[in-house]
Amino acid sequence: MKITYSTNKKQKPEFSNLGFGKYFTDHMLVMDYKDGKWQEIQILPYQDFSIDPSTNILHYGQGIFEGMKAYKNKNGKITMFRSYDNLKRMNNSAKRLCMPEIDIDEVFEGIKKLIQIDSDWIPTQSGASLYVRPAMIAFDKMLGVHPAHEYRFFVILSPVGSYYANGLAPTKIMIEENFVRAAIGGTGEVKCMGNYAASLLAGEIASQKGYDQVLWLDAAEKKYVEEVGAMNIFFVIDGIVKTPKLVGSILPGITRDSAIKVLKDNGYEVQETRISVEEILQAQEEGKLDEAFGCGTAAVISPVGVLGYGGKDIIINNNQMGPVASFLYDTITGIQYGKIEDKYNWLIAIN
Ligand code: PLP
Ligand code: COI
Repeated sequence: MKITYSTNKKQKPEFSNLGFGKYFTDHMLVMDYKDGKWQEIQILPYQDFSIDPSTNILHYGQGIFEGMKAYKNKNGKITMFRSYDNLKRMNNSAKRLCMPEIDIDEVFEGIKKLIQIDSDWIPTQSGASLYVRPAMIAFDKMLGVHPAHEYRFFVILSPVGSYYANGLAPTKIMIEENFVRAAIGGTGEVKCMGNYAASLLAGEIASQKGYDQVLWLDAAEKKYVEEVGAMNIFFVIDGIVKTPKLVGSILPGITRDSAIKVLKDNGYEVQETRISVEEILQAQEEGKLDEAFGCGTAAVISPVGVLGYGGKDIIINNNQMGPVASFLYDTITGIQYGKIEDKYNWLIAIN
């Protein structure tokens, strides 16, 4: 690993008002793939890339990314949450997009070093953390449509607060009836850049109507709920916690997996199943739609207070965060911030 320290440190933002993904630390990690192998990891001062206009990523979107977080507790101890699972998922994404896999242990050592170097950028305010964004892009200068031979893997760090502007306040989500995010056999179950580009128009239309994000339906029948723009979704119906099963078009969220484990271990009945819009509407009519919430690294646990469908709004749990979402939020963030015992061994020490 080669390290070049920045001699020109940036001014840090106000940590109590960070928003999401607006500020970047002093260093970044870069690792290039050339001649059939990954080159040495470099930690460099945060800087622009110089990119030839013919570079593949700029034309065909052969690119993938991940999102994970580092936390600093009040004693200065820094940890990450399940990051090996993120890097494993990144390798799955790489396989799906014909990109080379990374050596997870080696890359994690690089990320650890990068975070140690920029550790004074980790906010300690409640709900704040250091968002870690690894990405990999095709780097050939070539317009033919084929897998590239050269790639750039990089990691940038961003101190973040809550993903949604209103923090933990319940979100307003619109069930998307026209556009679809992903079909089985497509790229929905991996974290490739194009998935997000393809989701923007629906998000914009929903936003003009006053919603925060859209809830996607399955592509074949537009009948079953799948996930939200940047998070997986859960419903509590008549006391049973239900989340869409991973049918091949849904991102297997690490927070989703953590939520299922925590709930089951605490006596909740959890079903990974197909959930139709009809079932949700009927539950609402019968007074059995107890709660809905999304979950993800950026979004943490995020209650859904309003669900729009067919031009009408359903209000869930009086537009309040419900008990299951609150319990999960407290337990998962409790583990992440080192306030609750980590019996799952999800935390990885960074310093
Ligand atoms: N679904 C989508 C489309 C996402 O972008 C994310 C965020 O990474 C998630 C779900 C949640 O996944 P995770 O909990 O691994 O962050
Ligand atoms: C995450 O939760 O880490 C995400 O990647 C969601 C979003 C910012 C794309």
